[in-house]
Amino acid sequence: MAIELNQIWDFPIKEFHPFPRALLGVGAHDIIGVEAKNLGFKRALLVTTGLRGSGIIEELTGKIEYQGVEVVLYDKVESNPKDYNVMDAVGLYQQNECDSFVSIGGGSSHDACKGARVSVAHDGRNVNEFEGFNKSENPQNPPHIAVSTTAGTGSETSWAYVITDTTTDPDNPHKYVAFDDASVTSLAIDDPVLYYDCPVDYTAQCGFDVLAHASEPYVSRLNFQPSLGNALHAIKLTAQSLRAAVWNGQDLAGREGMMYAQYIAAQAFNSGGLGIIHSISHAVSAFYDTHHGLNNAIALPRVWAFNMPVAYERFADIAEAMGIDTHGMTKVQAAEAALAASIRLLRDVGIPERFVDVTRDSYSKNRLGQGPTTYYENAPTIVGDAADVDRITNHVLGDACTPGNPKECTFETVRPVVDHCVNGDLDDLLS
Ligand SMILES: [Fe+2]
Repeated sequence: MAIELNQIWDFPIKEFHPFPRALLGVGAHDIIGVEAKNLGFKRALLVTTGLRGSGIIEELTGKIEYQGVEVVLYDKVESNPKDYNVMDAVGLYQQNECDSFVSIGGGSSHDACKGARVSVAHDGRNVNEFEGFNKSENPQNPPHIAVSTTAGTGSETSWAYVITDTTTDPDNPHKYVAFDDASVTSLAIDDPVLYYDCPVDYTAQCGFDVLAHASEPYVSRLNFQPSLGNALHAIKLTAQSLRAAVWNGQDLAGREGMMYAQYIAAQAFNSGGLGIIHSISHAVSAFYDTHHGLNNAIALPRVWAFNMPVAYERFADIAEAMGIDTHGMTKVQAAEAALAASIRLLRDVGIPERFVDVTRDSYSKNRLGQGPTTYYENAPTIVGDAADVDRITNHVLGDACTPGNPKECTFETVRPVVDHCVNGDLDDLLS
């Protein structure tokens, strides 16, 4: 019987996706104006959630304008950016005859901006037309400087952007990842100074996005060798730095450690792939607009436990990276110790342990203590009944990240994982 190649080896050919130029470290944000000028910016659209109360937008706008570059502000990006946020930004860009983009914030700001660039390069076609892999027909985007104020997304250096498509069935909104080499920014700026004021819950939740970005490529089916070292180092930095960054926001080592972990982890998944931590996260965000990092944190221990039987050795490496002394342990014992360490970290940084525990009150607040104002403002808290688990599972199976998961994913195998994320007790995983 003939065997199809893709039946024995899902990803026979790997592809390296390049990173943009980057400036990292204390003070990097100070030279944004000079960099914008050197890149030829004349009138830039600044895309952001607003970061109200931080003063960051006002400060960086001043630095850009000081170099003679005009700034047009679009500060209405929502958490889990929606297609209409992107298209509003495109409209403003075209109306003001801008020639360049700046995004300031976390993944929502960068992703909305990347989507807007792709749309602008195609005469304002709807961003949803570019869902998928390398859908850009015109790779000549306007230039884009991305400045991070969180440590999680890595979008400032990756080829991915994630958008919620609200044009589908309103009861079943669809959140997708677009992977597009044309969306890669022109310059990434990661300055820990801008991350000092990141609120406690955002810092914790974004930190688990980093742990997901690092651990998923380390066990992925893609098994992309150049990603493995970066993945482990990002796990190590996260295990060392996240608690300090969360609980002592002015701790430079903690903030800088997480900033580098974000940057390195994104470079690991950029070509090394993701898995169903992200697929579950996208599904729950699509239905409930919960924070991407929060979703990842809740999904991570369950997905690690699910994948462990096909990757004990890799999880044993993760244990070591998390600071566990694995001498005298079998690979299985070490892998289980990694799982326990992830749960300890989740509890140490104060993240809810299952989706039904996430209430609208527990959604992240901005720097002024204001809750999110979003498309889903009147959405129910997470239901978690059988029908809810079914629809989340079906969204997971259609996600672009799912094929990279190391363990085969079917409705029957994934549904219990989703159900545990929604309703289960983390202590079950430790027994
Ligand atoms: Fe992520």
